[in-house]
Amino acid sequence: MKTSFPKGQIEVVLLEGTHPAGTELVSQAGFDVSVHHGALEGGALIKAIGRAHVVGIRSKTQLSAEVLKHCERLLAVGCFCAGTNQVDLDAATLGGVPVFNSPFSNTRSVAELTMSEIIALHRRMTARSAALHGGKWDKSAAGSHEVRGRTLGIIGYGHIGSQVSVLAEAMGMKVIFFDTQSKLPLGNARVGQSLEAVLSQSDVVTIHVPENESTKGMIGNAQLRMMKAGSYLINNARGSVIHLEALRKAVDDGHIAGAAVDVFPYEPSAKGEAFVSVMQGAENVILTPHVGGSTVEAQEAISVDAAGKLVRFVNTGATTGAVNVPNVDLPEQVDGAGRTHRILNFHRNVPGVLGKIHEAAAELKVNISGQYLRTRGDMGYVVLDTDPAQAEAFKRRMEGIEESIRTRMLW
Ligand code: NAI
Repeated sequence: MKTSFPKGQIEVVLLEGTHPAGTELVSQAGFDVSVHHGALEGGALIKAIGRAHVVGIRSKTQLSAEVLKHCERLLAVGCFCAGTNQVDLDAATLGGVPVFNSPFSNTRSVAELTMSEIIALHRRMTARSAALHGGKWDKSAAGSHEVRGRTLGIIGYGHIGSQVSVLAEAMGMKVIFFDTQSKLPLGNARVGQSLEAVLSQSDVVTIHVPENESTKGMIGNAQLRMMKAGSYLINNARGSVIHLEALRKAVDDGHIAGAAVDVFPYEPSAKGEAFVSVMQGAENVILTPHVGGSTVEAQEAISVDAAGKLVRFVNTGATTGAVNVPNVDLPEQVDGAGRTHRILNFHRNVPGVLGKIHEAAAELKVNISGQYLRTRGDMGYVVLDTDPAQAEAFKRRMEGIEESIRTRMLW
């Protein structure tokens, strides 16, 4: 079947060694894929992606406004990671380029790390291991507990928090949680009435909130002292949530029996950079270098998720999951035999654009069999499935509308 644009001419450039599962998916879609194992910058980056229709990066490659200016054919960007800070989203939006990411593919990995820490802290595992590495045989049950029957407090009952809830109950723990949104408690979990209520009732507290104004510094000295004496605290969320000096004090004076910390207010950006934290050297404290979501399985899931979103956008126009443009979830085109054309139009969201589009359709006597519209801030995205007869002329009229940013047609 003839398609609007030969799939083999769609150039996809993947940088930073994204997991091969995503590369495979893009290749299977028939696109022309080139892979760069490292991150690129400056002229080398522009040379590599300047003619690409789709670019996939991880967190190191910086897609600044200047870089994006050189990518005239760019249709979409995929961030094969959770964040999108490395892309100038305003510049991408102005160019009608959706930016996709994969925020939840590592949920299970964080939940599993958390589970391992809950047990490790209850058994003082790292301290015991360190003692033995140092030649000290200290066999005793003192300070060791089963987790069965103990109460786990979860702060933030989103993707990760709720997953931890299910796993913890499977091990016989009681779960109580606090979330600012109303959340359905899974299994036998109970809703705590406040942050304070959860802190004061739990034997171990784990934090799974995002970084925002309400969570910055949410656990300081006052909150730590509300926790039960001898309880444990885990932070695999964001470094700004816990006041680490206060935590160190509470660990040193024994009020908190142990902690696990994966995220820090300042994290080294390069591998060789030294790590410094007030938590270093504290008894029964597990420190990990922001690896909660870092597993081979998560990398694979991220790659498949991000690549899938890119392929779907190129083939159908669906922007589901894009962080910077209106999300429109689209069905396959009504008729794959070539009778329906799909026109995709990003435009500035000002009153009257849709009127102009409908006026053009009426003048050209275009029959519209499907229409999907979403707006988000300054951006509008309209998708029209039309009869093929006047589709090309209709597309040109849409391109000519003053507010249009980018128009593409699929058939
Ligand atoms: P999510 O968005 O699914 O869930 C977050 C939950 O926190 C939501 O239910 C929200 O309503 C709740 N929340 C927001 N503000 C709150 C407040 N002030 N008090 C109580 N609840 C509040 O996010 P997800 O995927 O569960 O991630 C949670 C955290 O884990 C994020 O900070 C994320 O950045 C971090 N993370 C860390 C990783 C690591 O490698 N350590 C990997 C992946 C995520």
